[in-house]
Amino acid sequence: MIEFPKDFVWGTATAAYQVEGAAHEDGRGQSIWDTFCALPGKIYQGQNGDVSTDHYHRYADDVGLMRDIGLASYRFSISWSRIFPSGKGKVNRKGVDFYNRLIDKLLENDIAPMATLYHWDLPQGLQDSGGWMNRDTVSRFVDYATFAFETFGDRVKLWITHNEPWVVAYAGHYAGRHAPGETDLSKAVQVSHYLILSHAKAVERYREIVPAGQGGKIGMALNLYPMYPATDSQADKEAAKLVDEFHNRWFLDPVLTGKYPEKLFGIFKEKLGVPVIAEGDMECIAANRSDFLGVNYYFRKVIAAADSHDILGYTEVKPIGSKYTGMNWEIYPEGLHHLLMDIKERYDNPHLYITENGAAFDDLPRPDGSIDDRDRIVYLSGHVEQMARCIEDGVNLDGYYLWSFLDNFEWAFGYSKRFGIVHVD
Ligand code: FCB
Repeated sequence: MIEFPKDFVWGTATAAYQVEGAAHEDGRGQSIWDTFCALPGKIYQGQNGDVSTDHYHRYADDVGLMRDIGLASYRFSISWSRIFPSGKGKVNRKGVDFYNRLIDKLLENDIAPMATLYHWDLPQGLQDSGGWMNRDTVSRFVDYATFAFETFGDRVKLWITHNEPWVVAYAGHYAGRHAPGETDLSKAVQVSHYLILSHAKAVERYREIVPAGQGGKIGMALNLYPMYPATDSQADKEAAKLVDEFHNRWFLDPVLTGKYPEKLFGIFKEKLGVPVIAEGDMECIAANRSDFLGVNYYFRKVIAAADSHDILGYTEVKPIGSKYTGMNWEIYPEGLHHLLMDIKERYDNPHLYITENGAAFDDLPRPDGSIDDRDRIVYLSGHVEQMARCIEDGVNLDGYYLWSFLDNFEWAFGYSKRFGIVHVD
């Protein structure tokens, strides 16, 4: 039997655009995901989050299910454009009321809310003036964060500023497979700096607003991958090291030590001239260290040196003989231990939550309505075992949020991928 510390937090996670629906109700403004979903060919079968799992209306039943499952915490995200329909200025009270109702319902059921401020759904109004490519969006984010801390901070004690800024920067501004669909590497790198800066400024603001004795904590959730060179060759090892800087350390280093990793910073500056960093940015980032780090772990990366893949020169290798999830993501629980031990050593053992981990499988109901969820159970058991190993090895791991509570809108994959531990018809 594996034993976890008594105060270890067990929860599940979702995000506003993926579950809420009610996209055109109660004064919610348009976000870049509404816009992106309307573009032909971007999303599986042209689907969108207009209705999704209808969490906006069914939240009370959903919280009831969480209670029945025995969850201690729920990680959700706030839709910026429900609160500020155009991204700034006038507040939409009905949007605020929804989050008040949700938070109160959670607390009534002894479920601790963890709120993410930005899970990818930028108000379209801000995108129209450049979105995250425009430095002004940093200030608009801090205004929005300030409002959220003042309004919900008495009850929400766990805050995440950004979810997976790597994905926002690169999937959204370089690969173009996420909103806003840009395909320019220089823009992506600059966006990554503004996201990190806006995190630091929001952390600073949180500490000004929320009394220290209140016990509230704030951090960022990063999608991280342990890196493995495909062979023992020097070239592969160096490629894996550089990709580690690209995916992991580009965010971990500034957020936890106040600096960008040198080698990659040098390459970006020399080849692209970015990121442009204003005076005082790095000081602000260094001075506002997070209380904890959120780790989203799904799979490892195996890296080989290659001429392809633009300026970083690498390719990803799919290990043969491994098992894969419905996303074609390798199932590799040991990678979680590797990753967390690296973070512990490199960054002086910060407090961590696993803010996402889970798997999509085609788990359709059998004729009697039951679901054979063996694959997911095996996946989760493997990761839970590795968490126990991490705790034994001294990692400050405080909790685990499974992705996801419900089957939901999986971005470009639409409803074709089921991550939920609750099945949705
Ligand atoms: C993560 C996202 C989350 C969900 C899972 C499967 O990258 O943060 O919204 O899509 O992947």
